[in-house]
Amino acid sequence: MSVQLQAPLSFQHSNKLTTQTKFSKAAANYASHANVQKQAAAHLFKMMASKHQQGTCLDLGAGPLVNTAMLKTHFDTVLAMDLSHSMLSTEQNPRCLKVCADMDNLPLQQNTLDCVFSNFAMQWSADLEALLKNLFSALKAGGKVYSSCVVDGSLKEIKQAFACLDEQNHINQFHCASHIIEYAKLAGFKLNFAADRCYIDAYNSPLEALRSIKAIGATSLQTKQKRQGLLTRQALNSVCKAYPLVDGHARVSYQVVLLELEK
Ligand SMILES: C[S@@+](CC[C@H](N)C(=O)[O-])C[C@H]1O[C@@H](n2cnc3c(N)ncnc32)[C@H](O)[C@@H]1O
Repeated sequence: MSVQLQAPLSFQHSNKLTTQTKFSKAAANYASHANVQKQAAAHLFKMMASKHQQGTCLDLGAGPLVNTAMLKTHFDTVLAMDLSHSMLSTEQNPRCLKVCADMDNLPLQQNTLDCVFSNFAMQWSADLEALLKNLFSALKAGGKVYSSCVVDGSLKEIKQAFACLDEQNHINQFHCASHIIEYAKLAGFKLNFAADRCYIDAYNSPLEALRSIKAIGATSLQTKQKRQGLLTRQALNSVCKAYPLVDGHARVSYQVVLLELEK
């Protein structure tokens, strides 16, 4: 059976340079702000824990190598790949191979990887369906993918706050978990495990919540529609006023699908 899935338009026109620049600017302070990312990584490592691992693991969208040391406890070789050179060049430098490359142009040979680990990164692909096909091809038979991918429903508080300004989309659009699973199956993967999780950060003020998105480099709008310039002070005040609070805290929630795939 052939399933036709339409990738959201926004992902087909992502601006790689903007994404690269934003993440590069965020590189130095990324690790101290990436709370939910740490939680998701811990879940992925738990999924991997019971399985015997060895060989070569690709850390796709590795960021400032925050997961490399842990991956090194499982694998002989870790290949950290990221679009941002600054991310790969941060001081935290556990021994691993590093390659600055775009996940949508994977510089990998067929049947060479034993595992792909990707935490909070695959949502940046401009073509997730093609990426999963290419990862399938790069993996050896029996090779696994452990991935956490941000999906539809994320950043809903920020979306709600910005709705006071206009009807434009102010946050990135994300795939549905079910589409990602379909793409994985179309690529040829067996789905060993899938789970939805919601990771929540809580901040003392809406402004801090908005800044947190910037601090992890995730402000790039992957849409064709360009932002209408920076927010004026008045607009920013309106957004902060409209930001929903829970117990006095401004939350930022990330809806994520955790996957274990096998070739
Ligand atoms: C939210 S960070 C996750 C970093 C790390 N995996 C972690 O667990 O904290 C997403 C990373 O994906 C990288 N990235 C974004 N688009 C990419 C692309 N097209 N190819 C490779 N890496 C990309 C960014 O530079 C950033 O370092």
